[in-house]
Amino acid sequence: MSTFIFTSARRQSSRLRHVSPIKLATSYFLSTKIRSVTGSIFERIPKEELAPKTRPRLRDREFLPGSTGEGFPEFLAEPSDSFPHGVRVNTRDQSSISELGANCMKYIKENLTDSQAILFRGLPVETAEDFLALTEGMRGKPLNYEGGTSPRPKEIENSDIYFASAEPGAYTIELHNEMAYLETFPRKTPLGKCSDIVLKLDPEVVKKFEEKGVMYARHLPDKSRSDYIPWQHQFYTDDRKAAEIRAQQRGYTVKWDDNGDMYLTYTAPAFLSHPVTGEKIWFNQAIQHHCTYSKALPQYKGSDLPDEKYPCHTYYGDGSDIEPEVLQHVRAVSWSCAVGFRWKKGDLIALDNLNVQHGRMAFTGERKILVHMTAD
Ligand SMILES: [Fe+2]
Repeated sequence: MSTFIFTSARRQSSRLRHVSPIKLATSYFLSTKIRSVTGSIFERIPKEELAPKTRPRLRDREFLPGSTGEGFPEFLAEPSDSFPHGVRVNTRDQSSISELGANCMKYIKENLTDSQAILFRGLPVETAEDFLALTEGMRGKPLNYEGGTSPRPKEIENSDIYFASAEPGAYTIELHNEMAYLETFPRKTPLGKCSDIVLKLDPEVVKKFEEKGVMYARHLPDKSRSDYIPWQHQFYTDDRKAAEIRAQQRGYTVKWDDNGDMYLTYTAPAFLSHPVTGEKIWFNQAIQHHCTYSKALPQYKGSDLPDEKYPCHTYYGDGSDIEPEVLQHVRAVSWSCAVGFRWKKGDLIALDNLNVQHGRMAFTGERKILVHMTAD
């Protein structure tokens, strides 16, 4: 499986977009005309053009858990020759946005397994509606964000175009695979290869996660008590029984407390075998969903909440605690495997969500990133 992400950023009237990984699509939609065009409109971009002007500092970074601890890299690395794989899109043939989407999809199908992350630069995409047209031209199978754990409103109603994250720009978001905690999983953006992470992790840590898996725990308050993802919003109902049934259908174990808050747990493997390459890949959110991520955020400063009261928390699959030194090790390894690149207006990035983790560096100013996820 792979996923496409389309991200946009906006400054005043201009928009820059970023698309999230999609699974690979089938090829039946490709016309002869498209075939004749594909191959001639994509030109490789040198890595120097993708590199940030300055390397973002990681060590001692505000609101980034683990950044003051052992083994954390000092700076975010620059792109390599092949990761991400950058191409400029030549649009002189006046193709429609939908046709360009189909061309991009063909290029992705031919190159994503090897490249894992493809950045398209120069697309004539200015609005969310343009982005929708582009994704419709790609003809993947859209994934919705039901069951997701971040504030992610739809950018266009009745579509699968989402605003990537409503989290404040000051927050750096840890590297993760999109929705790795769900049974169906589909931003300046650090990217890291999961296969690299496996190679750098301590074999004992790998073995333990392989044997035990990861238990994800979520706390969904009643909407009368909090507006941060109450269970009524998560399951689109005010009916407690209906919400419980929908949660159980997704494989969750459900508990309630006397305040009407909902608690979910779900256990999943920490690794997957890539369906195309067969590589063992680190595919989980054991770290990003651990309560220590929330504890590093300003709204929880000084909080004495028990771990299970944070929006998300993780354990080993048998319910035992993940040791602090293991959390630190995985965070340090993940960030040391990450590269960063500089967005430009019109950029689209397609990620193989199974093998590429993404995150977000903190930012200031106005910016918007849009996401579309597919699964084929
Ligand atoms: Fe994400």
